[in-house]
Amino acid sequence: MPKAELHIHIEGSLEPELIFKLAKCNKVSLPYHSVEALRSAYAFTDLQSFLDIYYAGASVLLYEQDFYDMAMAYLQRAVNDHVIHAEIFFDPQTHTDRGVPIAHVINGLHRACVDAQIKWNVDASLILCFLRHLSEDAAIETFEQAIPHRHQFIGVGLDSSEVGHPPEKFTRVFAKAKALGLHVVAHAGEEGPPAYIWSALDVLHVERIDHGVQSDQDDALMARLIASRMPLTVCPLSNQKLCVFPDLQQHNIGRMLDAGVCVTINSDDPAYFGGYINDNFVQTFDALGLDEKAAYQLACNSFEASFVSAEQKNKWIQQLDYFVETF
Ligand code: ADE
Ligand code: ZN
Repeated sequence: MPKAELHIHIEGSLEPELIFKLAKCNKVSLPYHSVEALRSAYAFTDLQSFLDIYYAGASVLLYEQDFYDMAMAYLQRAVNDHVIHAEIFFDPQTHTDRGVPIAHVINGLHRACVDAQIKWNVDASLILCFLRHLSEDAAIETFEQAIPHRHQFIGVGLDSSEVGHPPEKFTRVFAKAKALGLHVVAHAGEEGPPAYIWSALDVLHVERIDHGVQSDQDDALMARLIASRMPLTVCPLSNQKLCVFPDLQQHNIGRMLDAGVCVTINSDDPAYFGGYINDNFVQTFDALGLDEKAAYQLACNSFEASFVSAEQKNKWIQQLDYFVETF
């Protein structure tokens, strides 16, 4: 099916083979001896246990070409999975805190988006995420460094360790981003409580919630999400690997879809969680017994929730309809 991917951290698409190749080229030492040793460390118990390894993996990225190569590798896989539009998260602070200029990060990723459009006819754009375990002042400093690159990204987001770092910690920087006409999203309700989803909506004024799977603990919140068609970018394999749900059979995406929430399926950090977007679809559909109607609705939601013009959304939904009619 043609579809959009709206929740993918580009640093989370870094496969172990590319991590080791870049470590060798860039003379960065890793706390793992081999690809196999690194892969065998991918046994996570919660979000933080993953983030520790994810930031170690990202430490091999130094030059503009490294960011370009990483993004091209992801986009090639996305195209193989029939992704026709991707909104890609990146974490500049993970790199600038190691002395990498923000221009290397953004120029490399953006050049890959341009080249992928030419090479594979895929539409890709970038969303700059602030690390919520760091201070708001650090986020503001990063945002100021990124302003000269304003035309190379479409929005800002909020990621990293959720519990203890509520959305309202980033009120000022999100207001600045909105004032510049950028889109705004935030991770909320991945491990954190429904209160974080409320404050992402009411304090940060986000246009989508990333994850949001804890919403079903709060009936008033569910009613609001349904009435406003507020999208949730859900990542089933991530939730399984980070023990947010004990297994995929317990995942609530099918119930939320039935209840009328605008949920979408995404891969989050595909190199770490055992699969790209189609693996997420296939395993979720197998585990929950979802049907063709659910598949169509999820693909349609991915276009509805994307940050493009109404005209472009309609074109993609027509492309999806044509696919379904001729399947
Ligand atoms: N950064 C990369 N993946 C993440 C996730 N699932 N939650 C929060 N921050 C992240
Ligand atoms: Zn995420």
